[in-house]
Amino acid sequence: MHVFGLTGGIASGKSTVSRMLRELGARVLDADVIAREVVEPGTPGLQSIRERFPGVVGPDGRLDRVKLGAHIFADPAERAALNAIVHPQVRAAFLEKLAALEAEGITHAVYDVPLLIETGLHAAMEGVAVVWVPREVQKARLMVRDGLDAQAAEARLAAQLSLDDKRQHATWVIDNSGAPEATRPQVEAVWRAMLAHG
Ligand SMILES: Nc1ncnc2c1ncn2[C@@H]1O[C@H](COP(=O)(O)OP(=O)(O)OP(=O)(O)O)[C@@H](O)[C@H]1O
Ligand SMILES: [Mg+2]
Repeated sequence: MHVFGLTGGIASGKSTVSRMLRELGARVLDADVIAREVVEPGTPGLQSIRERFPGVVGPDGRLDRVKLGAHIFADPAERAALNAIVHPQVRAAFLEKLAALEAEGITHAVYDVPLLIETGLHAAMEGVAVVWVPREVQKARLMVRDGLDAQAAEARLAAQLSLDDKRQHATWVIDNSGAPEATRPQVEAVWRAMLAHG
């Protein structure tokens, strides 16, 4: 199985590119989706969180992310404790999904991970596509999409590794600053390059 990373920054166009890849027939695993699945009611992940962080499971049996956030916000040790529970679950679920794809005869897959580079996972990928836009475009799209003012958008951008830093780790840079019609052929070229591996 050849696995390639897809990443970018907040509102840089990861979901847009991921959709284009799927339209081309690529199988894309989404780290955010997996991270939610491993804490669904009835999972060992949620059970471990319930034991370590009492009171964060609501009356409906679901994880109360606001309450959990209050535990880990501004407390790196608590955040590390949460990650120590969730990360192995995500990893196991990811490997399980890859095995299922392999059983289907799939040979090339894409892993969409917002924090691919921050977590060091990019080193485990056969190649990395970074969805890049200039910072001003990123800020403008973030403001429009999330209804943020300039200051709030700046705060979110400042909390992340910049796209200019991330692109240093890219095998392929997808420039999403133009219209989607300008992004699509780049995505096609990247998918062809991924398929050429192996
Ligand atoms: N090429 C483009 N031209 C104009 N708008 C775009 C383009 N690509 C994406 N957008 C818009 O920018 C916003 C962010 O795009 P998208 O959701 O794909 O980013 P993302 O990287 O997945 O964001 P997040 O980090 O929040 O998941 C959306 O409102 C989307 O419609
Ligand atoms: Mg997205």
